[in-house]
Amino acid sequence: MSEPDPAERTRRSYDAAAEDYAAWIGAELAAKPLDRALLGGFAELVRSAKTGPVADIGCGTGRISAHLAGLGLPVFGIDLAPRMVALARRAHPELRFEVGTMTDLALDDAGLAGIVAWYSTIHVPDEQLPRAFAEFARTLAPGGYLQLGFQAGEGVVHYESFGEHAVALDFHRRHPEDVVAMLRRAGLQPCARTVREADVGGDFPERTPQAFVLARKPG
Ligand SMILES: C[S@@+](CC[C@H](N)C(=O)[O-])C[C@H]1O[C@@H](n2cnc3c(N)ncnc32)[C@H](O)[C@@H]1O
Repeated sequence: MSEPDPAERTRRSYDAAAEDYAAWIGAELAAKPLDRALLGGFAELVRSAKTGPVADIGCGTGRISAHLAGLGLPVFGIDLAPRMVALARRAHPELRFEVGTMTDLALDDAGLAGIVAWYSTIHVPDEQLPRAFAEFARTLAPGGYLQLGFQAGEGVVHYESFGEHAVALDFHRRHPEDVVAMLRRAGLQPCARTVREADVGGDFPERTPQAFVLARKPG
């Protein structure tokens, strides 16, 4: 039998670990004031540029969707893993969440005022990332914004377990300048790249600096 492809391995992994992941990540944003500040800047830019829906792509438990909704954005979420979508719906019944993949979005052209992909492109292999960025460029309205969050660096970190659960998860670290170059090739205009140092203490220690790239669709 052939090996499942990377997206299928990611989907199975998050489906298996969904409850434990949700319990672990729940309080993370409250512990990261700089990350909240960047999301706040994104929300303000989107609100002042466009009206229209904002997609949280790779939304997981919906915690970022809910945060952005609290900042006044009309957000909905999309995630590869049905179990994560079920948890997001349960935690945030007032918001809409759907199963889908960022490499083939079931969304109209130019309909989104904003996209946030917060630590979700980290699971997309290099060769498929241009396809995801092309989908972001296609579905954003002219003048719409994209906010990415990801681990800065290089190489792939592989996890075989999460708590008690067997998983097969690849975490792709990337240099912000490489991501910016790829976004440009997709037709998106970089606005800001921010790298904060790894937060080594607290309940959510990090092993690598964290990167945040903001881009805009021209027009
Ligand atoms: C590290 S979690 C982050 C979840 C959420 N953005 C957050 O910050 O809590 C990564 C999420 O990306 C989703 N994901 C991975 N590859 C995806 C893809 N190709 N399309 C959509 N979602 C994807 C996973 O299912 C998982 O829920």
